[in-house]
Amino acid sequence: MTQHVVIAGGTGEVGRQLLALLAQRPELSVRALVRRPGSLPVASNLEEVTFDFEDAAAYGPLFGPPCDLLLIALGTTRAKAGSTEAFLRVDRDYPLRLISALATTRPGAKVGLVSSVGADRGKGLYLGAKATVEGELATSGLANAIARPSFLRSDRREFRLLEALVNRLIAPLWLALGRAAFAGSPGWWRWAPVHVREVAEALLEASLSLKPGQRRVLEGPDLHPGPVARWGRP
Ligand SMILES: NC(=O)c1ccc[n+]([C@@H]2O[C@H](COP(=O)([O-])OP(=O)(O)OC[C@H]3O[C@@H](n4cnc5c(N)ncnc54)[C@H](OP(=O)(O)O)[C@@H]3O)[C@@H](O)[C@H]2O)c1
Repeated sequence: MTQHVVIAGGTGEVGRQLLALLAQRPELSVRALVRRPGSLPVASNLEEVTFDFEDAAAYGPLFGPPCDLLLIALGTTRAKAGSTEAFLRVDRDYPLRLISALATTRPGAKVGLVSSVGADRGKGLYLGAKATVEGELATSGLANAIARPSFLRSDRREFRLLEALVNRLIAPLWLALGRAAFAGSPGWWRWAPVHVREVAEALLEASLSLKPGQRRVLEGPDLHPGPVARWGRP
């Protein structure tokens, strides 16, 4: 039976990986919410929907058409957004509106959320926003899977200094040392830089297999099955 997926953030680094995986699954019918038309590559099971995230009234009708799974991979940076308020709208308020509208219209649906390592502590602007969204999911009654990656590895076209440093210097060292000496340490892998493809794969599989009311958090070894498994760890 066809399952209906809605994705927000499909043009981002993790989102593009999610869409590539979804494109290989003809049993899934996908609606991707984008800000600008023509943002996404064509796929036979994909419908691109131009969506005004600022329009609070637009969220309810989104889930009139069927939705079994909502994937949220939205995000920005304070610098890119231009202000704290603008940052919070993207990282906190849009996800909150999506979750609330889905819970009202389709309480049996599931959610897959890209959050961040440290969101369970929720300190500061960035992690506070992530913690608020995770908290809303927890009380929504919706089955949900939350990915909490550390630094993301990707081929992002936009230059971000911290990501470039992590990708080129810290990640290779961190991963090599982890495989050699800390293969069995969940704490080590929790903070290890992780490729966007691995996050997308883990989140999509976990989200699709959720049972009603189930909640899962994916972090550390859940997002690094390759290195950890290769070095003999469960
Ligand atoms: N970067 C890291 O190291 C890292 C680490 C841990 C967790 N995370 C989290 O992982 C998630 C995904 O990260 P990512 O690097 O894949 O994100 P990304 O590449 O920056 O993509 C962000 C997505 O959000 C959308 N977006 C941004 N501003 C928007 C706005 N004002 N209105 C509507 N949509 C907007 C973008 O759409 P457009 O294409 O239209 O801009 C894009 O689809 C984020 O929540 C991020 O906080 C990131």
